[in-house]
Amino acid sequence: MKTDQWYLPCLIIGSCAVAAIEPQQHRQQQVFMHQQHGIDAPLQGRYLHITDIHMDQHYLTGATIKSDCHREPKKHKHKKKKQGLLAGYWGAPGMDCDSPPRLVYHSIDSIAKEWKDKIDFIIWTGDNARHDGDALVTRTKKEIVGYNVKVADLLRSAFTLDNNRTLPIVPCIGNNDIHPHNELRGMKNNPQLLEFSEMWKDFIPEKQQKAFRKGGYFAVDVVPGLRVLSLNSLYFFGSNDVVNSCSDSTGPGARHVKWMRSQLKKARRDNVKVIIIGHVPPTVKTFKDSCLDDYIKLSTKFKDIITGHMYGHSNMDHFQVISRGFGNMARIGSEDNEQDDEDDMVQSQKDTNRFISTLRKQYKKVKKVRNAQDLVVIHVAPPMLPLFYPTFRINEYQTDNSSNQFGQWLKYTQWFTNLTYWNEQIDPITRKHLEPGFEVEYSTDKTYNMTDLTAESWLDFAQKISSKDGKDLWKTYLENMFVKTNNDWYGQSVPIETNPIYDWWNWFYDNVSNLMFS
Ligand SMILES: *[C@@H]1O[C@H](CO)[C@@H](O)[C@H](O)[C@H]1NC(C)=O
Ligand SMILES: *[C@@H]1O[C@H](CO)[C@@H](O)[C@H](O)[C@H]1NC(C)=O
Ligand SMILES: *[C@@H]1O[C@H](CO)[C@@H](O)[C@H](O)[C@H]1NC(C)=O
Ligand SMILES: *[C@@H]1O[C@H](CO)[C@@H](O)[C@H](O)[C@H]1NC(C)=O
Repeated sequence: MKTDQWYLPCLIIGSCAVAAIEPQQHRQQQVFMHQQHGIDAPLQGRYLHITDIHMDQHYLTGATIKSDCHREPKKHKHKKKKQGLLAGYWGAPGMDCDSPPRLVYHSIDSIAKEWKDKIDFIIWTGDNARHDGDALVTRTKKEIVGYNVKVADLLRSAFTLDNNRTLPIVPCIGNNDIHPHNELRGMKNNPQLLEFSEMWKDFIPEKQQKAFRKGGYFAVDVVPGLRVLSLNSLYFFGSNDVVNSCSDSTGPGARHVKWMRSQLKKARRDNVKVIIIGHVPPTVKTFKDSCLDDYIKLSTKFKDIITGHMYGHSNMDHFQVISRGFGNMARIGSEDNEQDDEDDMVQSQKDTNRFISTLRKQYKKVKKVRNAQDLVVIHVAPPMLPLFYPTFRINEYQTDNSSNQFGQWLKYTQWFTNLTYWNEQIDPITRKHLEPGFEVEYSTDKTYNMTDLTAESWLDFAQKISSKDGKDLWKTYLENMFVKTNNDWYGQSVPIETNPIYDWWNWFYDNVSNLMFS
């Protein structure tokens, strides 16, 4: 895709003057160089985050949503195509179908073309394979491995520069990347981990291979002074019931915690900053209690060197504040059924209302506890899968190391592509579908008025959007949580404190409840 084309949607939709400026904006401080494969390259101060691709080779344009976009409607029943009810060419936005391969190829390709020269590395937080939602087409192990190999190959070749240097790519394992899903055993020489170590051998430093084959985690210096710890969240995941909780000191969860601790100590010794990544975010809903406890303990102890906790899995674009001590701050988000299976999480209107309203309560609580408590802020980026609209995120970090701020998270820009629009765009001459362009959804500086993205700034933001004065911003935040897919809902005034969000819920229940959190 040519640069011009990249901005096309903005011109058409006319809503994002920002987009045309954004990629050209170069940070002033680009003096620091880094050595990668023997080549000096200036630091760009940016990195890409992609997550939850969920590629589905069975996706069929024109199939019914009900069939997971796998089967066409019975001809005699549906003579006319009912708009919006059938699988679109590039995907079925706002529905619970997975990604057509053409969307995955196109997205990776166009993101790489636009960004590979403007970023330093890529974090890629799992779930490359489709969900197991169609009883008629169950997932096989071979199919799952196939998606993982495919996406790794796509990324590797897309993010290889003209000088043949491949940007550092940091993967981690998603709960749908293994077979059967969620269940990763803690045994020695787990064949699935051996398989991933083979697939990712270009991404995992040689010295880390042993750790990876043992536990599915590794550390990598993505630029000098900045290290990514790629966690294997499946050993902490409440739905993985083939391993014990972290309180079993001989189990894989406890071993993982031990590794994390030693890595954080080492990072402090080495005087580097750390980005923590994983698939399943650490929340009460998703982590086993003892694992969450250990995670919070380590995160607060090493908060001076950790610049961000980056996750995927939950699909909704949001952040959570977790804490050990105070009144179960960490428990917010799941006041009742903590033991819910994640796939069953959003089953009723009550659950959904609870998610948004408890998130708001969680933010509100920050004001009372922030001086007394060590609070950890964790981030969930939205998926490439068009559960809403496909997205990717460009993070920016401090490259000036003169002030000990090197590596500090400064900003991100959230990009999306409006598949409702692009599914309908056909070249009048060739009759071919036009390729979707990405546009800016929002950015933390312009939209949220944040000057940096330290934990403290997020806590300020949490206070702001949960306050009376922050009503408009809260609304914007909710729109972004669902990648601006539900205009009907957020177009009206949102009854924040009292009323449940019925309209939104109806839409949500019809469209996405099955996929949420799976
Ligand atoms: C800052 O960056 C320069 C250039 O890359 C490097 O030589 C120096 O060691 C760095 N200083 C710190 C404190 O990381
Ligand atoms: C990159 O690799 C290709 C294939 O191995 C080779 O033909 C080409 O000369 C290389 N380019 C550079 C700049 O090293
Ligand atoms: C997406 O495209 C549709 C169809 O063109 C349009 O109605 C809708 O407003 C767009 N949404 C966003 C968030 O741009
Ligand atoms: C943005 O933040 C600055 C302080 O960083 C503040 O002075 C200003 O009022 C804020 N603007 C808005 C619109 O909130």
